[in-house]
Amino acid sequence: MAPGAAAARCYAEEEGDTRSDGTRSYGEARYVEEGGASYGWYQRYAALRPFVCRLVPPASRLLMIGCGSVLMSEDMVADGYMEIINIDISLVLIEMMRKKYFDLPQLQYMQMDVRDMSKFSEESFDCAIVKGTLDSLMCGVEAPLSAAQMVLEVDRLLKPGGVFMLLTFGCKPAR
Ligand SMILES: C[S@@+](CC[C@H](N)C(=O)[O-])C[C@H]1O[C@@H](n2cnc3c(N)ncnc32)[C@H](O)[C@@H]1O
Repeated sequence: MAPGAAAARCYAEEEGDTRSDGTRSYGEARYVEEGGASYGWYQRYAALRPFVCRLVPPASRLLMIGCGSVLMSEDMVADGYMEIINIDISLVLIEMMRKKYFDLPQLQYMQMDVRDMSKFSEESFDCAIVKGTLDSLMCGVEAPLSAAQMVLEVDRLLKPGGVFMLLTFGCKPAR
């Protein structure tokens, strides 16, 4: 199994949501346990910065898809980015992030399923970043359908010439 695969699977199996019996799924339990502490999958902003800065101007409207507790959004604000909408399926995580970043108006947090982002209008973002979230979807039920729904939604939301950054541990044929 590729590095990161096991952990990504844990989130995907229950998609970070509370179970129907009211108990917490692995993803929710982990976010509660960590109390909003930052964790970034695969790469930190420092490593991605050269690509981001070259492709995405600071005035861009960005969508961070399946944001988790990633520090990257905060780092991007420190770097001059003005508007980053962070979405995740985990409500407990989103509430923690809202509290943590209440004093950073450049960051917004919304609970949303990446497969249905109909709250956003078409061609309303300059850039979408997916880091690790495709890997979660690919480990879940109806993986190819979920992945296709996400990509179609990103395509709908990006302005013409918009930038889609996808970070995954999977090799190209598998993704
Ligand atoms: C592997 S973590 C990556 C987190 C973050 N992007 C990072 O780089 O650290 C995957 C994240 O995707 C979220 N997620 C899983 N399925 C989702 C879905 N259908 N819609 C939105 N978020 C989802 C999980 O709650 C989790 O926070």
